[in-house]
Amino acid sequence: MKRIGILTSGGDAPGMNAAIRAVVRKSIYHGFEAYGVYQGFSGLINGNIKKLELGSVGDIIHRGGTMLRSARCEEFITKEGQQKGIEQLKKFGIDGLVVIGGNGSFMGAKALSEQGFPCIGVPATIDNDIPGTEFTIGFDTALNTVLDAVDKIRDTASSHERTFIIEVMGRDAGDIALWAGLAGGAETILVPEEKYVMDDIAERLRSGQKRGKEHSIIIVAEGVMSGTQFAEELHKATNIDTRVSVLGHIQRGGTPTGFDRVLASRLGAKAVELLMQGKGGRAVGIDKDIIVDEDILTVLEKPHKYHQDMYELSKELSI
Ligand code: F6P
Repeated sequence: MKRIGILTSGGDAPGMNAAIRAVVRKSIYHGFEAYGVYQGFSGLINGNIKKLELGSVGDIIHRGGTMLRSARCEEFITKEGQQKGIEQLKKFGIDGLVVIGGNGSFMGAKALSEQGFPCIGVPATIDNDIPGTEFTIGFDTALNTVLDAVDKIRDTASSHERTFIIEVMGRDAGDIALWAGLAGGAETILVPEEKYVMDDIAERLRSGQKRGKEHSIIIVAEGVMSGTQFAEELHKATNIDTRVSVLGHIQRGGTPTGFDRVLASRLGAKAVELLMQGKGGRAVGIDKDIIVDEDILTVLEKPHKYHQDMYELSKELSI
């Protein structure tokens, strides 16, 4: 192994840059060369690849987004697309690839590994929905961005005695909603992992009102339904008027938190270590503060960890 390639793919996540920096610096420290693949798998197919030096990754550890750019690439789902990618890697003399991203990126890394090209998956997505790791890079920053918004909306909710519905991202996972709901003191949290009962929600709002609570925050994960749709359903059931805030892509940007920078540095470095040891086809992750790795061919078959205990707790604390 002489040359290590790095790419970021799928939705960007704060901390991706810190992971890129770790891969590049760790590689060069140990006498390897680092190559950046720009624009994810689509850049790989097109050979958009450049050598990275120590200075190429200076001044990026604190920046959101990804200096390598990102893309969602349909062509890479096909065998032909994957073969084109492998040809480009060979053309540049790259012997191992670190893929930083979410579910789709892991599928790409898995496909390359299945075809014999050594690949390591580094989990980075605000959704926190990758199996094999307790946390993905970017989740902590997104959580804090959402919390900041929830706190601000609470000021208005309380001043105007209103019920607010806040729609958050997360794709099919409810982690952003659950963690932000618990930390933000939301009265109700809707996640795809739990069935909601409108009567219970209505009862909760009514009993709150009876004891003088005139405002409420309801957090809806996009994987359940849109905030607007839920507002309509709630209105039908209770006649309560609400305001809806869709936080959208604001959740993906911003300066990565200390937690995300440290996580990204540790996971990026571990990916390089594995490639240096001649190991490919692995996914790295964190488990009880230990950096771990497992087979990328099977990791995606497991469900991602859902904290039902936190969901129950949030209900107890928001009576
Ligand atoms: O996976 C990250 C994510 O932000 C999801 O939470 C969301 O469903 C999706 O990406 C949005 O994707 P796009 O930016 O392509 O619209």
